[in-house]
Amino acid sequence: MTLKELRSTFTTGLSGNYPAEEIQSFFSWLAESYLGYSRFEVSMNLNETVPDEVQTKFSEALIRLKKHEPIQYILGETEFYGLPIRVSPATLIPRPETEELVQWVIGNSREKLPNLTKLNVLDIGTGSGCIAISLAKYLKNASVSALDISEEAIVVAKENALLNDVAVNFQQADILAIKHLPQQYDIIISNPPYVRELEKKHMLPNVLAHEPETALFVSDKAPLLFYEQIAALATTSLTPSGTLYFEINEYLSEEMHQMLQEKGFAEIELKKDLFGKFRMLKCKLTS
Ligand SMILES: C[S@@+](CC[C@H](N)C(=O)[O-])C[C@H]1O[C@@H](n2cnc3c(N)ncnc32)[C@H](O)[C@@H]1O
Repeated sequence: MTLKELRSTFTTGLSGNYPAEEIQSFFSWLAESYLGYSRFEVSMNLNETVPDEVQTKFSEALIRLKKHEPIQYILGETEFYGLPIRVSPATLIPRPETEELVQWVIGNSREKLPNLTKLNVLDIGTGSGCIAISLAKYLKNASVSALDISEEAIVVAKENALLNDVAVNFQQADILAIKHLPQQYDIIISNPPYVRELEKKHMLPNVLAHEPETALFVSDKAPLLFYEQIAALATTSLTPSGTLYFEINEYLSEEMHQMLQEKGFAEIELKKDLFGKFRMLKCKLTS
């Protein structure tokens, strides 16, 4: 089968399941991963015969895409803040709003770097390790630790640290069971589970069917469970000039603000993402 025939079979096989443009993007990503061809190289080599094993890989990908499995899980990799990040069904696929959070932290922290010899950072609920690894990569004086309840996620996060040539101290731990953090941190950051059960009906089927439940959902009755626990731990584990950063549920920004105020946090700042939604928050212990 030629590359042209393969593309045609792939496109026909998925039509009706996804918009035409998305199918072309899937084909391009798979061609890059399985053949090492850029979009341009695909168009230059359409008459080339595709090896049987590559045809098989495309057929398997097609079956998984028909089941609405995210392309990132099929490829086993995505990009986060310009870095390659491996993902598995045990890890959430990193989202663009999380890149915005990382950008915010890096921008704020770089301003302060000359005054700090070392920056101790803790990422809670690290998943693929995307936040911890990008902070370790771009904040050169940061000493980064990260934890997650999922052993499988920690395995992937460790692979990602190696892949990106950074040192991060990853630990498996349940943040809800921790009474004290082991040291003082200049930055505590978390993108914890925050989607309420009641929001499930607005979510895409590929997210619901394939991404890990423990990474996403909280009960309708206690939607701030993780934030309350992390904020409580931060009251004794943030350095006096330290900052607590959260990615937040766009529908719960007021509740977050109030909860943090009640716990004694100051300089609480909400930040909108590119779509104009409050998705990030930072605060300090004292003004
Ligand atoms: C929304 S995901 C964020 C993953 C990653 N930081 C990112 O931004 O893509 C939340 C993460 O919290 C982890 N998690 C859930 N419950 C936890 C707990 N009790 N203790 C520690 N981590 C937990 C999940 O396994 C998941 O990796």
